[in-house]
Amino acid sequence: MIILDGKKTSDNIKDEIAIAVAKRKEAGLKTPHLAAIIVGTDGASMTYVNSKVKSCQKVGFNSTLIDLPEDTTEEQLLHEIEELNNDKDIDGFIVQLPLPKQIDEQKVLMAVDPDKDVDGFHPVNVGKMTLDLPSFLPATPYGILELLERYEVETSGKKVVVIGRSHIVGRPLSILLSQKRKVGNATVTLAHSRTRDLASITREADIVVAALGIAEFLTGDMVKDGATIIDVGITRVKDDSKKRGYRLAGDVDFESVSKKASFITPVPGGVGPMTIAMLLKNTLQACENRD
Ligand code: GUN
Repeated sequence: MIILDGKKTSDNIKDEIAIAVAKRKEAGLKTPHLAAIIVGTDGASMTYVNSKVKSCQKVGFNSTLIDLPEDTTEEQLLHEIEELNNDKDIDGFIVQLPLPKQIDEQKVLMAVDPDKDVDGFHPVNVGKMTLDLPSFLPATPYGILELLERYEVETSGKKVVVIGRSHIVGRPLSILLSQKRKVGNATVTLAHSRTRDLASITREADIVVAALGIAEFLTGDMVKDGATIIDVGITRVKDDSKKRGYRLAGDVDFESVSKKASFITPVPGGVGPMTIAMLLKNTLQACENRD
């Protein structure tokens, strides 16, 4: 069994990005600048955004964090987005999800300039991705493709089951893996909460991606021997033995599934760090697009 080490792989990608940034600076080209908007004080979201900003510093990007109160109105948020759209120094920005209930997420995502949409959530980028045209790929699916590529996990002709049809992970990943691309050409099944007899489907799969957001959902009896397992889940589970009072659990029961898997991502240290590295890669791309 081989651990797909997202921490190490993302560090390698960040090193590559840092070299590209240093070269840009030497050549007198613009330093990439990523901005992030966070609304409210959700603990997990703040951790993710802080980690994104810290990673910017590591690769030599400029970064801006815009921190808005929980009671921000939709109009105020749309105004902030317009400022970033018009700010010549900002190459790309993200609005951290989820948003408070008074704000229409779709309206917000549509307000982001597609050329600065480094999350790849704008309908223009989703459409381009679906048609296999150049676009910003959403960071988590992109990170999973990159991890599979760097560990030379074969996807062509393989049976892949993606569990979870979210707009951020499951749906785009199912599209990407089915496309004619280096990491692709797979026969993909997109399973979800209405899927019947899921275990009989996952047991047939060469690759299972668990992206449904239920802690330790995928168990050893649901996978075949030698399968590759990608765990996208990250849930805080109450654990009084930990200093923070919780532990981080994936969607995969690592204990039982790792006994059967040939490749498996850990949580933490698997898909999570890859997501951040690919956001940086998209930001570098956004900056290069403007040269
Ligand atoms: N919330 C969970 N994942 C993501 C992500 O990839 N981008 C943003 N903006 N919010 C998220």
